[in-house]
Amino acid sequence: MDMKILGIETSCDETAAAVVQDGTEILSNVVVSQIDIFAEYGGVIPEVAARSHLEAMMPVIRKALADAECTWDDINAIAVTHAPGLLGSLLIGTLTARTLAILHDKPLYAVHHLKSHVYANWLTGGHAPQFPVLALVVSGGHTQILYMPAHNKFEIVGTTHDDAVGECFDKVAKILGLPYPGGPAIAKAALNGDAHKYKLPHPKVAGLDFSFSGLKTAVLRAVQKELGLPISHPSYDLKNHLTASQVADFAASFQKTAIEILCEKLTAATEQYPDVQSVVIAGGVSANRALRDALPEAYFPTPALSGDNGAMVAAAAYYEIVSGVEPTDPYALNIYPRISVENTGTGTI
Ligand code: KG4
Ligand code: ZN
Repeated sequence: MDMKILGIETSCDETAAAVVQDGTEILSNVVVSQIDIFAEYGGVIPEVAARSHLEAMMPVIRKALADAECTWDDINAIAVTHAPGLLGSLLIGTLTARTLAILHDKPLYAVHHLKSHVYANWLTGGHAPQFPVLALVVSGGHTQILYMPAHNKFEIVGTTHDDAVGECFDKVAKILGLPYPGGPAIAKAALNGDAHKYKLPHPKVAGLDFSFSGLKTAVLRAVQKELGLPISHPSYDLKNHLTASQVADFAASFQKTAIEILCEKLTAATEQYPDVQSVVIAGGVSANRALRDALPEAYFPTPALSGDNGAMVAAAAYYEIVSGVEPTDPYALNIYPRISVENTGTGTI
């Protein structure tokens, strides 16, 4: 088969498009990040993100086609992230994809964002994970363990009860006065820190579920204690009192604890599903070096494909197509369906 899919991704603050052949070969991958805009504010402003997507969307798609040396005639299908994500951001991507599908008469595939992150692990150059697969999804909005018996079949077997692990990295970074996005900033600061300096608790959550809001608060309390300040002292001011070496030690101690929590649950999951052949790690936090080192047997996307990108969207759509999924009617695409299954504990995405 020779199937070229244009993948479009705008769920958060990256405007991205890519052309992928047969679900595995990346012909182009263009990502325009809005990180520079949001670093100043310490987080994403949804309205600004949507407007930035609108400006970047068509140039990014044109570049993806040009880099892949494709015209519209060469494209067999268009895939787009339809959920979950920021509403305004998703609207720009989905409206663009719907319009292009109608204009160029291409089948349209509306792809779930987490499924795309998982499929970034099939873009690793021929060395594909073997089923059954366990997927640990660690992004800014989600922390889940998925059991995947075959392509395009997912069962949520563990999920967070509150914050996602990426969100926890971002919030801890804010307490420590590190820039947005917090994950890479924590990882960098941790390189100079003592991971054993501060003892942080592991939450007691039953089964394969997670909780990360307590860890964030534990860091907050530990910082206040270290500085000799009361628990009423505002979190936004703590950074003004911390030394660089304290920041490094907190970053290292927090990162170590977060990774231990993820690895404990993943180990429990592999014990619960002994038939599993491959473990894949997906989502923005999969870029984390220390997490990669802690899980040498697992599949990780290449670092460039850990964060949001269009190639993973195209790959996910390819495996929907080969699994017999019908295209979406571009006139009827709604960005809400399937969101509701997110926190049910079990279900499919
Ligand atoms: O998958 P992603 O790009 O967007 C969502 O779908 O949410 O994930 C973004 C998250 C952010 O919370 C960011 O801080 C985190 O991934 N992240 C990292 C690293 N790089 C990005 N977390 C830890 N270590 C990293 N190196
Ligand atoms: Zn993502």
